[in-house]
Amino acid sequence: MTVATTPAGPAPTVPSSAAPATDADARLTARALLVKQVRAEAADVVSITLTDPDGAELPEWQPGAHLDLTLPSGRIRQYSLCGDPADRRSYTVAVLREVSGRGGSVELHDTALVGRTLDVRGPRNHFELRPAPSYVFLAGGIGITPILAMVRQVAREGGSWRLLYGGRDCRHMAFVDELLALGAAPGQILPQDVHGLLDLAGAVAQAPSDAVVYACGPEGLLRAAEEACERTGHTLCLERFGSQAPKEGSVAQEIGTGEQFEVELRRTGVTLVVPPDRTLLSVVLDVAPSVPYSCEEGYCGTCETKVLEGVADHRDDIFTPEERARGATMMICVGRSKSPRLVLDL
Ligand code: FES
Repeated sequence: MTVATTPAGPAPTVPSSAAPATDADARLTARALLVKQVRAEAADVVSITLTDPDGAELPEWQPGAHLDLTLPSGRIRQYSLCGDPADRRSYTVAVLREVSGRGGSVELHDTALVGRTLDVRGPRNHFELRPAPSYVFLAGGIGITPILAMVRQVAREGGSWRLLYGGRDCRHMAFVDELLALGAAPGQILPQDVHGLLDLAGAVAQAPSDAVVYACGPEGLLRAAEEACERTGHTLCLERFGSQAPKEGSVAQEIGTGEQFEVELRRTGVTLVVPPDRTLLSVVLDVAPSVPYSCEEGYCGTCETKVLEGVADHRDDIFTPEERARGATMMICVGRSKSPRLVLDL
């Protein structure tokens, strides 16, 4: 298993008034935002609200988007936006304290954050809410954060939706009152200590055939959602907190291996060789140690980098087939090159 490490420093920060040139620039540019509020939302869950220090409007976002936060220690972590996209003056994320995690959530819970600035990249969205006649939302634990924003939008638009939200117990389930106010039925909010595991298969089987299923939560919930949708043929969109266990013989098993290729870091002005037994990220870090990264397994999106020339060999768990075909950016922690030479905007 790859051990997540801390980058040597955060990505360059720009003043919020400096307009990035493209969508990719906007997603990949860091800005310093002020922590305005930290609020307990449930046992072990806090929400963190960020604003521009000068009160300026923040870039737009849509449900499913997340931010990369650079923590005071320099760790970079990803958190889904769960506030209201109509509020252009603040971003809100929610963080579950995970004592057996990689340290980022504990740091956020244990640090006095209000009044500090954090470097933030994004919003970026690899979990977009696509138009559909109806929706089934499946959420487990802190997986409710992107789903809350989706429910809010669909409810506001008068769309058809059904929710199944599970958690360890009532105390640990965040945003229950808000979900009920949006129209969730009490029977859709099901703490495990009372109701057991969610009946995902039943919820999917009962959904109209053209409903789109959105799922976010622990791996067991996502696997169950995948199996349920495979049986019924429903379209499933999901977001993982971690990488999938690689299937035997899959590309993921070969991360860090492959053909040798050259990479030019255009802004740094160097060309490097990526040998078969090293990752592109590790070679880049030799000369550009402040390049941001987090999971090193292709699921968090922190290392997303613009590709200026060449053909990326995508090996991440994030991009859709369309995004891969477009090839405008790549995850350099796992991605390699299909062309002998790759030019990156670094
Ligand atoms: Fe997480 Fe590359 S560091 S996708």
